[in-house]
Amino acid sequence: MALVKLGQLQGNALIVGASRGIGLEFVRQLSRNDQIERLYAACRSPETATELLKLAEQEPKLQLLPLDVTEEAQIQSAIGHIQTQTPQLHAVINCVGLLHDGDFQPEKGLRQIDTEKLLRYFQVNSISAILLAKHLVPLFKHTQPSLLATLSAKVGSIEDNQIGGWYGYRASKAAQNMLMKNAAIEYKRSCPNTIIAQLHPGTTDTQLSQPFQRNVPPEKLFSTERTVTQLLDVLAGLSITDSGNFWSWNGDRLPW
Ligand SMILES: NC(=O)c1ccc[n+]([C@@H]2O[C@H](COP(=O)([O-])OP(=O)(O)OC[C@H]3O[C@@H](n4cnc5c(N)ncnc54)[C@H](OP(=O)(O)O)[C@@H]3O)[C@@H](O)[C@H]2O)c1
Repeated sequence: MALVKLGQLQGNALIVGASRGIGLEFVRQLSRNDQIERLYAACRSPETATELLKLAEQEPKLQLLPLDVTEEAQIQSAIGHIQTQTPQLHAVINCVGLLHDGDFQPEKGLRQIDTEKLLRYFQVNSISAILLAKHLVPLFKHTQPSLLATLSAKVGSIEDNQIGGWYGYRASKAAQNMLMKNAAIEYKRSCPNTIIAQLHPGTTDTQLSQPFQRNVPPEKLFSTERTVTQLLDVLAGLSITDSGNFWSWNGDRLPW
């Protein structure tokens, strides 16, 4: 039997971490896709997400939802709100991520290891991803092909780690990968038509990478437009047997 590829995303989609960067660009590209019926964009403060607000003014199918993914109650209430409108989601792309925030900077060495810092990395980058997988189950219990993609990072690959540093970010992405791999195994039983995909976007010109772009050659620093186009191509080629893997922007499978 031929395996059905996911193809172009269609149906109802939710982008989490949609205020800026890669998440905002997913919203932009999916809002132009006529196959997408309902498009939900979640972020901490939609009322100050200027670009997202502009898009929502132009695009009737786009709805903004307030969501801080570190608060499980907010995940429940955002998903509860979606359930009042539809029983099904076909694509969820979680673009939430934390690398730095003001004085909060990635560790260069062991001297900078700090419990609170590590906990914050794990809370935003790892725990939120699996809480989403937990609460999304009812919306994926349908028979159409669907997708739960989470933005990870190649620096979270344990095998690929050559240069060290960035303890909290690397470890929280490795933990995210393990949590989502586990979810993929359970989803095979509970949501057998949902593909779980971990994605490395490549270095992309956003607020997250901005302080670390100096040594990146221009051809290796992607615009958000390019990154999202590439990731949508990778996703389109996936079928259900690909669930539970870690993909790079060019379609290569990355080592855990
Ligand atoms: N850019 C790169 O080069 C690169 C490379 C590898 C992997 N990645 C990964 O790709 C993903 C997207 O990164 P990006 O470059 O687009 O970063 P970005 O521009 O900094 O955007 C990060 C997003 O995460 C959201 N966020 C942070 N904490 C949150 C929370 N507690 N609750 C809800 N949303 C929260 C931010 O929303 P607020 O507006 O609410 O802060 C923002 O929308 C991340 O997972 C990142 O690790 C990026």
